[in-house]
This record gives sequence, structure tokens and C-alpha cells, in this order.
Amino acid sequence: MNDTIIRNIGALILPKKSDRPLKGKEMDELEIIEGAMIVIKDGQVVYRGAATDEYEASEELDASGMIASPALVDPHTHVVHGGSREHEMSLKRQGVDYLTILEQGGGILNTVEQTRKATHQQLVDKASKSITRMIQHGVLAVESKSGYGLDRENELKQLKVSREISEKFPVTMRHTFLGPHAIPKGADGDAFLDDMINLLEEAKDYADFADIFCETGVFTIEQSRKYMEAANALGMRVKIHADEIDPLGGLELAIEQNAISADHLVAASEAGKKMLADTDTVAVLLPGTTFYLGKDQFADARGMIENGGAISLATDYNPGSCVTDNLQMIMAIASLKLKMTPNEIWNAVTVNAAHAIDVDKGTLEAGDQADIVLWDAPNHEYIPYHYGVNHAHTVIARGQVIYR
Ligand code: NIG
Ligand code: FE
Repeated sequence: MNDTIIRNIGALILPKKSDRPLKGKEMDELEIIEGAMIVIKDGQVVYRGAATDEYEASEELDASGMIASPALVDPHTHVVHGGSREHEMSLKRQGVDYLTILEQGGGILNTVEQTRKATHQQLVDKASKSITRMIQHGVLAVESKSGYGLDRENELKQLKVSREISEKFPVTMRHTFLGPHAIPKGADGDAFLDDMINLLEEAKDYADFADIFCETGVFTIEQSRKYMEAANALGMRVKIHADEIDPLGGLELAIEQNAISADHLVAASEAGKKMLADTDTVAVLLPGTTFYLGKDQFADARGMIENGGAISLATDYNPGSCVTDNLQMIMAIASLKLKMTPNEIWNAVTVNAAHAIDVDKGTLEAGDQADIVLWDAPNHEYIPYHYGVNHAHTVIARGQVIYR
């Protein structure tokens, strides 16, 4: 039982399964089968390809007029947090920039206050709304960071909420400890960093990765190296918010520390971009953040791809620098502002995003979990083109229709 055949798929989008992220020119390769079908048995893909009469199933889905793809993967989010910061919009209109708001005790530190005040259940309820929206937009694998607690109790609270969310929804999640996300008001940066390093051992029971915000006025390269070395020594793969605003050399540090991903990279150096060819560290670009911060300079996706690097895309969904949980919107911004091709974009939100968070997702080969989206679109170029709305028509998680 539980067998389903999806018939009459206008075009089936098939990112290539690979044991490492797709790099450079490979990112522009995407198999597309027209007039396709998918057979699902016990939650797994049994067959995908040209229509055939070889299979029977108890249920059938008609995908006429639609295209299909693996469900999307969002590899960088701050989905668990308390409150919101709509009041910052008026500061932005007055030209006060992101780091100045943070310096004045707002920004991340404002969300820290709201997250500390929130109960576990309030955080679960709020994150559940976002995860539901992500599912409805075709995302079935999500990375979720802490970083709004900045102390033992509240960082662990966020990670436990994240874990509860992953049990509550048929979404594959990875959890990231981002204790060094900001320096608490009145604290000394070095002493606080040591506290977060001491917390790694406990956080490791709840988190898959360790992340740090390496930026002017937050944590330096030296501090970030110390933290990443400590996490690596505990066997935790590392991530880093790197070179978002100032070119500090975060990308080079990420590669040196064998990070699973280096994220943001708007101001990454030419030397760092060249190093991408010889590493499996994925460059996770967050163009929605650049857009939302009102900046003109976007990450150099073209340069990174031409240098042979692996790129992924994520929402960075958070209450301050990118307030959207719609990854399709990011696909459009990547097309317009990062000049990525449709094939590169699809690989960036599926197979490469999966590599950036170490989940076996983003492809549809026989034996893969059947996480599939049917899109109300005529072809795969259409989704980055028609922006700001939801094109996901039917979302199938582990073989079951969960949104239609
Ligand atoms: O990825 N840059 C640091 N952290 C988040 C923003 C968090 C916030 O503003 O609340 C980011 O952009
Ligand atoms: Fe972030």
C-alpha cells in the first residue's frame, strides 16, 4: 500500500546526485525530462523518468499542466526566535545602517531580549507558523540556528525548540549552535566567546553544526578561528557568517577550518573566491539579505562559479536582515541580482543546499525519500521569473501529500 504514481508531469527537474557539491560549470547542468512520471512506494522513489505502463499503484496523481522537482532545501535560517522588529524599518528609512542599530543595542540584541522572554511553547508556536509557510512554498529540509539566547539557558532553549519542530513536521532539519552571534550588552567579547566555547560540549547534544558571526564589531577572524578550532576538536562541523559587510577574510578562514559552508560572502576577497575550486566548502549566498538591507553590492556569484566554486542559496530568514520564509523569492533575486542561470539556481536550492547542511535531499533517484513538489508552472525557468508569489501546487513529504 501507500503506492502512488504521479503522471503527466510536463517537465521533471532532476539535479544530479553526487557525493560532493556541484561546482563551477557543473552547476549549469540539469537533467529535465518532459512527459515524465514518478512512482513512489513506501515513501521512496521507485522510478522516475519517461512515462511507461510498467507500474501500478493504489493512488494516482495527475500533474497535467505542472512541472515537478525534488523539494527545496533552505540551508540557512534563524527560524526559531521571539518577537519581531518592524520598528527598525523607520530607522532604515532614516538611513541608520544594520551595524549601527546593533551597536546601539538594537538589531540582534533586541531579538535576544524577546527570545529570552519567550517560553519554549511560544517559540514552538511561532516557528511552527514559519515552517508551515516554508512547506507550503515547497521546502522540506531546513537548517535552523540558535543565536538569540547568548547564554546557556536560552541557547539550549532555542535548540530544543528546533528539535521539537523537526519531530512535529515531516521536514528534515539540521540544527546549528550560533552562540557567538552577538556580544551581550556590557559583556567583554573575549570572555563571552570563552563562555560560548565552554558551552559547545553541551550544545553538541542538540546541534549538528557550530556557527559564528565574524564581522566588524562582532567577532574577529582570530576569535572566529579559536571558536572553530574548538568546535572541530569536538567533532562538530563548522559554519561561519563571513564577509557579509566588511572583507575580513572569513571565506579563507572557513576553507582553512574545513567548514561545511561559508555564508553571506558579499565582501569575500578575490583570493578567497579562487580557493573555492579546491574545497568542498559550499558558498551559501543570501541575496535576500543584501536586498533587504538595501545594499547595491551583491555577492559575486558569477566570479565564484567561474572560479570553480560550489554555490548554494538560502533565505537567511530572520527578524532583522531578511524577513521572508519564501525561498522562491530568493530564486528570483538570485536571477536578477546574482546573474545566476535557472539551472544554477535550481541546483543551488536542491542538491548543493543539501550538501551545505549534510542531508541526503535535493535529488529524485530510485531509493531517495519521495520529497517532491508539483509546481504550477510551464517550465523550470518560470519560477525565478514570476516573482513574489507561491508556485508550489502540491507538496509531497516522504511519499504523502501534505499540502495541496
Ligand atoms: O545572517 N548577520 C548576522 N545574523 C543574521 C541576522 C540576524 C538579525 O539581524 O537578527 C544574518 O543576517
Ligand atoms: Fe544568518
